[in-house]
Amino acid sequence: MSSVRVCIRGTGSYVPENVLTNQDLMRIVDTTDEWITTRTGIKERRIAPDHSATSDLATPAAEKALAAAGLDPVDLDLILVGTATPDMVFPSTACILQANLGAKKAVGFDLSAACSGFLYSLSVGASFLKGGVYRNALVIGAETLTSITDWTERRTAVLFGDGAGAVVITPAEDESCIEAINLYSDGNLTHLLHMPAGGSRMPPSHETVDKNLHVITMEGREVFKHAVKLMTSAMEETLSDADVTAGDLDLLIPHQANLRIMEAVAKRLRIPIEKVFVNVDRYGNTSAASVPIALDEAVRSGRIGKGSLIGTVVFGGGFTWASAVVRI
Ligand SMILES: CC(C)(COP(=O)(O)OP(=O)(O)OC[C@H]1O[C@@H](n2cnc3c(N)ncnc32)[C@H](O)[C@@H]1OP(=O)(O)O)[C@@H](O)C(=O)NCCC(=O)NCCS
Repeated sequence: MSSVRVCIRGTGSYVPENVLTNQDLMRIVDTTDEWITTRTGIKERRIAPDHSATSDLATPAAEKALAAAGLDPVDLDLILVGTATPDMVFPSTACILQANLGAKKAVGFDLSAACSGFLYSLSVGASFLKGGVYRNALVIGAETLTSITDWTERRTAVLFGDGAGAVVITPAEDESCIEAINLYSDGNLTHLLHMPAGGSRMPPSHETVDKNLHVITMEGREVFKHAVKLMTSAMEETLSDADVTAGDLDLLIPHQANLRIMEAVAKRLRIPIEKVFVNVDRYGNTSAASVPIALDEAVRSGRIGKGSLIGTVVFGGGFTWASAVVRI
């Protein structure tokens, strides 16, 4: 095992200005503010402008993270983008971002792990750094989920939003930052949360469009049950790997999918809700972007600072899930 330790040097995030409230949604689907709030905790979400893409959100988030880290784009060796909504099937959004940033010497690629995309990318980036392959990496979770939201289906239309979050990671000089990180997958449960068409299984056609297959399709109740169980066990295992307890955490940053999932996970971990970061009320579920946006907001608001110990845990389509313990 390499002794090189990896640190988060700077964070950044960006959400589009356009706000869609629960009241606005009541004009689009048969729903109420009361239903959405009590079942999910969501009050509003951000919507990317027409014709904008994931890289348009990722670029300002990356610029903020680079500024916070005091790095120039030309210093970057690696750009990883966790996303389920890339600008195009190919090339990667990471390559588009490399050009936008002017990160001339960076290698870039995307990573597909749905809502777990940021922690998966963080783990891959940290491994490159630990192996001595690269020094300065930009890790991003960015989504334009509203581009694949079914605006006719009330069960899912109320849940999602757009945004991007970024961190810069470098080898640590004297302290440990990423104390432990674990990734998990279960491909047997793919059918519970997926977008049926648009890939090689069902290429885009008039038929797939007519059948409304280019949208997020989900068995909400099943996803909920699995998310609570697997997020809890993942966080427990990662706390144990980091040799700390839930009581040692200054803040838990769970995937911002649903307030009830966060409350259930916190309860099982015996973490008081005051120690749980929540912004799902303002942004909805932004998939891979949710944890890095939350992390950036926690840092910039002063809720966490130098030396704070953070637990983070995510869950998404695949199924994929992941957890990390990080000292900022
Ligand atoms: C989606 C979710 C909020 C739905 O809550 P739920 O309590 O499971 O609700 P159900 O889907 O069973 O629906 C219950 C009822 O509410 C209705 N309903 C569903 N969406 C509604 C909406 N937006 N407004 C009003 N009523 C709604 C349903 O039609 C159903 O009515 P019925 O019993 O008359 O058929 C919940 O399952 C959930 O959060 N799942 C996890 C989703 C998630 O986080 N996914 C991403 C993970 S990365």
